[in-house]
Amino acid sequence: MSHIQIPPGLTELLQGYTVEVLRHQPPDLVEFAVEYFTRLREARAEDPDAYIAIPERLRAHELDSVVVEENGDSDDAEDEELEVPVPSRFARRVSVCAETYNPDEEEEDNDPKVVYPKSDEQRCRLQEACKDILLFKNLDPEQLSQVLDAMFERIVKIDEHVIDQGDDGDNFYVIERGTYDILVTKDNQTRSVGQYDNHGSFGELALMYNTPRAATIVATSEGSLWGLDRVTFRRIIVKNNAKKRKMFEAFIESVPLLKSLEVSERLKIVDVIGEKIYRDGERIIAQGEKADSFYIVESGEVSILIRSKTKTNRSDANQEVEIARCHKGQYFGELALVTNKPRAASAYAVGDVKCLVMDVQAFERLLGPCMDIMKRNISHYEEQLVKMFGSSLDLIDPGQ
Ligand code: CMP
Ligand code: CMP
Repeated sequence: MSHIQIPPGLTELLQGYTVEVLRHQPPDLVEFAVEYFTRLREARAEDPDAYIAIPERLRAHELDSVVVEENGDSDDAEDEELEVPVPSRFARRVSVCAETYNPDEEEEDNDPKVVYPKSDEQRCRLQEACKDILLFKNLDPEQLSQVLDAMFERIVKIDEHVIDQGDDGDNFYVIERGTYDILVTKDNQTRSVGQYDNHGSFGELALMYNTPRAATIVATSEGSLWGLDRVTFRRIIVKNNAKKRKMFEAFIESVPLLKSLEVSERLKIVDVIGEKIYRDGERIIAQGEKADSFYIVESGEVSILIRSKTKTNRSDANQEVEIARCHKGQYFGELALVTNKPRAASAYAVGDVKCLVMDVQAFERLLGPCMDIMKRNISHYEEQLVKMFGSSLDLIDPGQ
């Protein structure tokens, strides 16, 4: 009788996938498989041994019960396989696959809620600091209120390390005030990859993906932060990201600029974006202002207007002239982030508009592979402006 050899790792690989299917009951098994195995491949790229996908929190007995329910019986040989200890470096890697979109709702909902009592004055400052935080944008009022209840104030001194690269993640931070350097050490070389200037947030990556801290954050002035503990972050923000994925994944797939990214890279974009809504005529970007966000039109139309400082063949000095319209799936607001200059033009909503918004740090971290496409378009802007105004971008007054 001939024997069919089962390749090592196949059982664990399929069990990992099966468990995720049973826990999440996705409507489309193939789509779910593509997403699941893509994440696994990404994890393996960093760690060639990491191909067995058993979620970190799923202990052997839980895994047994799920599998038994599905099969109706239990196989001793299989049970033994499941109890093979998972190496710790692997456990961390695996959680990248599983935990982002798999918060264990029941387990975490039973945790006591964290509440730091606050004075009215503190609550006001906290609400002001959090009003533009993209990760909070899609929370419902009850979730947002729980997040705000759980936040605590932390005063920092100049040169204080708020986060050290390589540490485990404890808190997520929203900046109330202060400036902070983002330092990344690679191949024994430390370099500054950006700054936070009195607003924004950081510390989400280690909590979202269960990875070590990816950067060091150092206060370059005295400052004040609002912290959110890991458990509450995962219970509310990570759970909400699962909802965001359902809402925005298909749209993000369709954005031409992002086509060249891997599926897993696009999923990371979905995790950090926030949706903002603008009413007809509302200004989204103001020419001359400092830039900190990048926009993709999700619905509606956006008009780009430019004001030249001198009279041109198209306009009087200081008069705004429309130079472009952005429609669903198109982006704007990249120029100032790429050139590190003030906004070159203003953007207004035409009718009601929804945009997906990404902060400059995520833009730099995630959109590097799209930079060539963006730079090519930027060279078209220059040509267009020369054609329209007889001058290039440099002649446009950023001070308006
Ligand atoms: P986390 O890895 O939890 O801790 C360090 C934080 O720095 C990280 O989350 C991000 O919020 C933030 N950060 C900003 N820019 C970068 C970057 N280029 N690479 C990694 N982390 C960054
Ligand atoms: P930014 O300068 O960040 O903000 C205004 C945005 O308008 C700019 O990025 C571009 O995304 C967009 N835009 C569209 N057409 C032009 C153009 N011809 N010149 C400059 N900006 C343009």
